[in-house]
Amino acid sequence: MHEIVEQLEEKREKAHLGGGQKRIDTQHSKGKLTARERIELLLDPGTFEEWDTFVEHRCTDFGMEQEHIPGDGVVTGYGTINGRLIFVYSQDFTVFGGSLSETHAEKICKVMDQAMKVGAPIIGLNDSGGARIQEGVASLGGYADVFQKNVMASGVVPQISMIMGPCAGGAVYSPAITDFIFMVKDSSYMFVTGPEVVKTVTHETVTAEELGGAITHSTKSGVSDLAFESDVDALVKLRRFVSYLPANNQEKPPVWPTDDSADRAEMSLNTLIPGDPNKPYDMKELITKVADEGDFFELQPDYAGNLVIGFIRIEGSTVGVVANQPMVLAGCLDIDASKKGARFIRFCDAFNIPVLTLVDVPGFMPGTSQEYGGIIKHGAKLLYAYAECTVPKVTVITRKAYGGAYDVMSSKHLRGDVNFAWPTAEIAVMGPKGAVEIIFRKDIGDPEKIAAKEAEYREKFANPFIAGKRGFIDDVIKPHSTRKRVARSLAMLRDKDVENPWRKHGNIPL
Ligand code: HXC
Repeated sequence: MHEIVEQLEEKREKAHLGGGQKRIDTQHSKGKLTARERIELLLDPGTFEEWDTFVEHRCTDFGMEQEHIPGDGVVTGYGTINGRLIFVYSQDFTVFGGSLSETHAEKICKVMDQAMKVGAPIIGLNDSGGARIQEGVASLGGYADVFQKNVMASGVVPQISMIMGPCAGGAVYSPAITDFIFMVKDSSYMFVTGPEVVKTVTHETVTAEELGGAITHSTKSGVSDLAFESDVDALVKLRRFVSYLPANNQEKPPVWPTDDSADRAEMSLNTLIPGDPNKPYDMKELITKVADEGDFFELQPDYAGNLVIGFIRIEGSTVGVVANQPMVLAGCLDIDASKKGARFIRFCDAFNIPVLTLVDVPGFMPGTSQEYGGIIKHGAKLLYAYAECTVPKVTVITRKAYGGAYDVMSSKHLRGDVNFAWPTAEIAVMGPKGAVEIIFRKDIGDPEKIAAKEAEYREKFANPFIAGKRGFIDDVIKPHSTRKRVARSLAMLRDKDVENPWRKHGNIPL
């Protein structure tokens, strides 16, 4: 018995060394942690239960029969984050470059299946050279198996991808299906085709970092939700991020203790809106003043900044925030903002997270680039997401709510549960200037008359009371009381139960 135990320990030690000390040193020299070090940092100390440590590949081509490394390039299992169950897989770049073989894929699928059975989130730490080249179609099949599981898990358990090294070719499509993609600056990249292929096909010269680094995907493409400074930074923040999420689609988000009173008044909000309606202000100030302890976990802060999204807590419970940002493009809705908002709302809806919408929107962005880019279909995504959403929806209009954008931004008409407006709200088909220039076009040469009509239009429509008269606004509230009023609304809505009609699935404009 003693001998067998010794053999076991020896085997385990070998497995823990992955591709060997030399390759571990190379990994460290690139500023990257190993697959196991990453799991240790991510999970609560001592909670990791590893599975399939001794799995080996079955390939016998290209000398692979001589090379067997237990674990086959991916460390899988489960543990806890802040005491809550999480499944994890972490690709080991020191073993065949973390490449995905048939057995590597089977290991990932096994933890995904288990996560689905027990209803817990799954986190993938990606660091891989892609399909195991020696295995050919077997590894491609393995990828497709993972994709299929990703799709089946979508909307059932939260899925998060942390890209911590290469992720290229078809390999990008597993993260792409997951709910959130995070990346590490300078050491991770994602692209469908790399710089060499790009050079050959389009004659563009571009580095891997420029083409698919963390900055590119968190500022230009919107593929990545956040870019972190280092492996350690990424894993510490990921622990925090997970604390906002429910374990699965049957559960409510976790409630964390807070000393921040729901009644807290924020007098400074009474002067947040500038006197000049065309002057911007920072909507994030309102978000942090409404949130428990001023804590806001923002997603995609450097992409489509005209729409702010992220998680806060109110009375300890997670709330998804979607807010127009007057500081960027005057808060207009464009293609990127619509896609960003729609996907976030659908995540919240799938996982029972109430949505708080803060509105200051002058309309949809005009222009050929928007129209040619399909703003009609992309804008419809946001509308569809709000209209389909059955979780509690609370809306606060702080200033402008013009045109179609008024309808889209969680209006009463799209089943907004509680719709508030500040006294500074202007709810109209368009701004007074634009409106008067259209309806009094023949008087355009008479600036005095135009000014008078503009003042009349502003007086009549640029306020929340017309909408209030019709019940489109439930109440006009004082800015300083926003947290209290939102908290009460969310408490009232806690047991909201609305179902959409049965169908196989809707047909969101993609
Ligand atoms: C097998 C691989 C591998 C792979 C890397 N390695 N990628 N082995 N299959 N896909 C091995 C290397 O041979 C090397 O082994 C070790 O991993 C480390 O690789 P290096 O090249 O030394 O590392 P580095 O210089 O950091 O470069 C990393 C890299 C490069 C950029 C990822 O390895 C690379 O270009 N690899 C091939 C990428 C690729 O074309 N993959 C297929 C993509 S298509 P030793 O023994 O020397 O340490 C794809 C399709 C998926 O993935 C389709 C899904 C539908």
